[in-house]
Amino acid sequence: MSKSSTSQAIDVEPMTLTRFILAEQKKYPHATGDFTALMNFIQTAVKATSSAVRKAGIHSLFGISGTANTSGDEQKKLDVLSNDLFINMLKSSYLTCLLVSEENDTTIVVEPEKQGKYVVCFDPLDGSSNIDCLVSIGSIFGVYRKKDDEPVTEADALKPGTELVAAGYALYGSATMIVVSMGNGVNGFMLDPSIGEFILTEPNMKIKPRGKIYSINEGYSQFWDQATAKYVESKKYPKSGKPYGARYIGSMVADVHRTIVYGGIFMYPATTEAPKGKLRLLYEANPMAYLIEQAGGVATT
Ligand code: AHG
Ligand code: MN
Ligand code: MN
Repeated sequence: MSKSSTSQAIDVEPMTLTRFILAEQKKYPHATGDFTALMNFIQTAVKATSSAVRKAGIHSLFGISGTANTSGDEQKKLDVLSNDLFINMLKSSYLTCLLVSEENDTTIVVEPEKQGKYVVCFDPLDGSSNIDCLVSIGSIFGVYRKKDDEPVTEADALKPGTELVAAGYALYGSATMIVVSMGNGVNGFMLDPSIGEFILTEPNMKIKPRGKIYSINEGYSQFWDQATAKYVESKKYPKSGKPYGARYIGSMVADVHRTIVYGGIFMYPATTEAPKGKLRLLYEANPMAYLIEQAGGVATT
């Protein structure tokens, strides 16, 4: 192979996720590099989850684990595995003090000798009902900073989404991607399995000002309030122009990712069955709303 064809095939200066975050942090004189390190541990949990998702069938990871999580959902084997990965990686980073997981009934306080300043809320595997039919699933995380010099309490996790210092998701789709924001726009990194690194492929992601897709579980329409029903009706029967198309995967990560990339609206409204909606604030709604706003979109209750 000639020199030039070699350099065409292999990027000799790849913008990896680690490199990107490090460079971002260097813009702030007081930054410690801790967030870069935290992201490295999250990346490992994502890579290992991705690998498990890809070989779920041959490793018999499909199916139900026999336990239920805090929301009463049946836990899948992959839920348990990805949860263990996230917890173990985050604890061993020496950078976290409190963890909140969809799969745990209570908060996890990190052993005092391993505590650091970050509080991480996460859904290790979102879209569990899609695991067994090979449809895209994801992981979601939101990061808060604990109050300086005070022992950590649950209040350090019970903060509004506006106080997030970073949030992101991993999508295990036709490829694996991490989309992350540290409050300075949204960037997407595709996993290159040949080198095991996340490479910046979607810099400065911006949601389109207008989309053509609405995304909602229409099966529950009889349980919607009037405003929701009227709004969805207006997308299907517009006064002018073409109706919106409908897309609903049932994995929030995949539905939100599509909304960022193609535009449109994703909704999980209250129903008479679930008057507060189904999505959980700390590790689903807050981080995703933060990312949508960082991409130039709008998010609301
Ligand atoms: P999880 O698999 O973590 O319990 O969450 C699934 C969530 C979310 O990803 C999705 O938007 C929603 O549940 C789908 O719910 P419906 O099946 O009620 O539409
Ligand atoms: Mn979820
Ligand atoms: Mn989950």
